[in-house]
Amino acid sequence: MTARSEKDRMHVSRRAFVTSVGTATAGLALAPLAGGASVAVRDRQAIRIGIIGAGRIGGAVGLEWAAAGYDVIFSSRHPEELAPLVEQGGVGTVAVLPNQAAVLGDIIFIAVPFDALPDVGRDQGPFMQGKIVIVASNPARQNGGPASQAALARGTGIVSAEYLPGVRQTRAFNAINYRFVTSEARRRGEKVGIPIAGDDPEAIRATTDLVTDAGFDPVYVGPLSEASRFDPGTPVFVSNMTAAQLREALGLR
Ligand SMILES: NC(=O)c1ccc[n+]([C@@H]2O[C@H](COP(=O)([O-])OP(=O)(O)OC[C@H]3O[C@@H](n4cnc5c(N)ncnc54)[C@H](OP(=O)(O)O)[C@@H]3O)[C@@H](O)[C@H]2O)c1
Repeated sequence: MTARSEKDRMHVSRRAFVTSVGTATAGLALAPLAGGASVAVRDRQAIRIGIIGAGRIGGAVGLEWAAAGYDVIFSSRHPEELAPLVEQGGVGTVAVLPNQAAVLGDIIFIAVPFDALPDVGRDQGPFMQGKIVIVASNPARQNGGPASQAALARGTGIVSAEYLPGVRQTRAFNAINYRFVTSEARRRGEKVGIPIAGDDPEAIRATTDLVTDAGFDPVYVGPLSEASRFDPGTPVFVSNMTAAQLREALGLR
């Protein structure tokens, strides 16, 4: 059975959810799970992943989660423009506004430009309190705004945590190019390793599961204060190293 048909089979019993959320104008009747559920404590396939920033990396990673059977709530300030992504994601995939994704997602994946993180913290932050939030945004090394400059000076994980207070943040999928997400997911043999940073054990566990389910090998690097070890400009960034190679390059056990 292919990944797609497997996904479609799994979603048959969940059409009620899809129907109730299925358009960009859907109401917010579906309450998110209190405190932000984690993959570790719930049936994985019942997890709703909200995606804020459904561009190149947000779209590519979201599609891999959709293929794994998750309900993926893509978002955009112009959700109607995400129709092709929703079509690709298939049953269980919807497009809504960023606030709706923040409310409806049990776990949130943020892939906006780094300099948009202050806006996301201000606008969507109140809806994400206590939730597990995975951030893939990288600071711009040239012509970056204040947020990028702060991250380059003080550390990516430290600064992104400051813009998103009250969430259980990890960083992952920032060090792989979106094209390789699509081409390398679930490849045969040793998979591409995805470095992860985070402070909250449950958030780290959930991120680890989601990296695995997207078809990659998770590599925990350390707390958010060490996230810069896999930033742009480091030897491991967009290197497509395997997990073993990543551990070796980063001096991890
Ligand atoms: N491209 C990659 O391969 C890659 C890989 C890893 C990490 N990253 C990092 O991920 C981030 C996004 O990169 P990308 O290449 O995916 O960019 P992109 O294709 O331009 O997508 C960014 C998305 O962010 C959304 N956005 C922008 N400002 C926003 C705001 N204020 N509020 C809500 N949404 C906003 C936009 O959505 P709407 O305009 O539709 O609302 C857009 O679709 C960057 O920091 C980049 O360094 C990129």
